[in-house]
Amino acid sequence: MSCAICPGSFDPITYGHVDIIERAHRMFDEVVVVVARNSAKKYLFSDDERVALAREAVAHIPHVRVALVDGLVADFAQQIHANAIVKGVRGSADYDSELPMSLLNRHLSGVETVFVMGEPSLAHIASSFVKELAHYGGPYEDLVPPNVAQALKEKVKA
Ligand code: PNS
Repeated sequence: MSCAICPGSFDPITYGHVDIIERAHRMFDEVVVVVARNSAKKYLFSDDERVALAREAVAHIPHVRVALVDGLVADFAQQIHANAIVKGVRGSADYDSELPMSLLNRHLSGVETVFVMGEPSLAHIASSFVKELAHYGGPYEDLVPPNVAQALKEKVKA
């Protein structure tokens, strides 16, 4: 049984993330979406909110579950005997930032990272852009699943 993890902040999950998770699902028997923390980032959504939004957004994909990891992704990958860490790449900037982390994760855990190229028509989507659009009242409904659009609407109203 092959198992991959898809780690990220998912603040919030977007259609770009869902595309990568669907691609991972076609490559591995089981996929665990890992909602993790980058200690340098401040998040709009709480850990529980990010998990709940991701869970609903991937509910249509079989053999995919969502886990909150409050620690190192490498430790979690080792604990569950993951065969790979899957990361989406939208372009060379993603590759440049993901490469050192992949090397570190392999150094820590021995688990390889697999870079997956996302659907090009989704390459402009980033959680940070979605939050910026929501903040300034711009349209973001076609960039995120409906449950996320609703949650963003409520968050910016609050
Ligand atoms: O979506 P992001 O913000 O690019 O995701 C980054 C994330 C959360 C996957 C990364 O910061 C991470 O793996 N955090 C958990 C702690 C960890 O394992 N850090 C890497 C070694 S310093």
